[in-house]
Amino acid sequence: MSDVELQKKLSGEAAAALVQDGMTVGLGTGSTAAYLVKALGGRAKVEGLKLRCVATSEATAALAASLGLVLAELDEVGSIDLTIDGADEIGPGLALIKGGGAALLREKLVWEASKRCVVIADAAKTVATLGKFPLPIEVVPFGHKTTALRICDALAEADIGVGPRLRIKDGAPVRTDGGHFIYDAPCGVIADPSLLADALKSVTGVVDHGLFLGMADEAILGTDKGVQRLLP
Ligand code: A5P
Repeated sequence: MSDVELQKKLSGEAAAALVQDGMTVGLGTGSTAAYLVKALGGRAKVEGLKLRCVATSEATAALAASLGLVLAELDEVGSIDLTIDGADEIGPGLALIKGGGAALLREKLVWEASKRCVVIADAAKTVATLGKFPLPIEVVPFGHKTTALRICDALAEADIGVGPRLRIKDGAPVRTDGGHFIYDAPCGVIADPSLLADALKSVTGVVDHGLFLGMADEAILGTDKGVQRLLP
């Protein structure tokens, strides 16, 4: 296992220890979240924990179900005690870029319904300024090229001069679990994340974007020296 994988595993397993019997837990998406789900599945089995889990993607739901974790829909539970999820970049104040795995919309819905949100990642995800990782933007397929032009205007409002690229896999646009497309904006530097977030949300056709601002309560990082916990 590479150093990065070990760090992801370390953070996922450390976060799994935060879960207590009886909790409703939001399960994130991605390779780091998969370590969390596996560790939680193991704990639930050995300790007989009674949990309800809300998955942020079909992939996570399938993994959780295969491990015997009890799944519930967001609308069934209403409120979630603790959500644990990965990130693509972690900036100052625990401002995040998410959505590299195309799950940002369900992730944001689950985060917003959660009393506490913990982000898990390998140490290399921390940055001084957000923007090196291309910002995922979820878009309605109808008229998406026209929406992409409006996204360019929104990026320009935030002094970002690049255009977004439609995410393609195996020769076709990537579809999210909600059936939408993803555009990735290689911003470089996002000097004012709040300004950009507001500008993108004002574009009709944009469902949501991968900026998670003021949402994470704590980060648990896997480092080569062990686990490091960060607060906003
Ligand atoms: C999923 O859409 C993302 O928000 C993931 O949480 C993010 O891409 C982190 O993924 P890894 O843990 O695989 O790096």
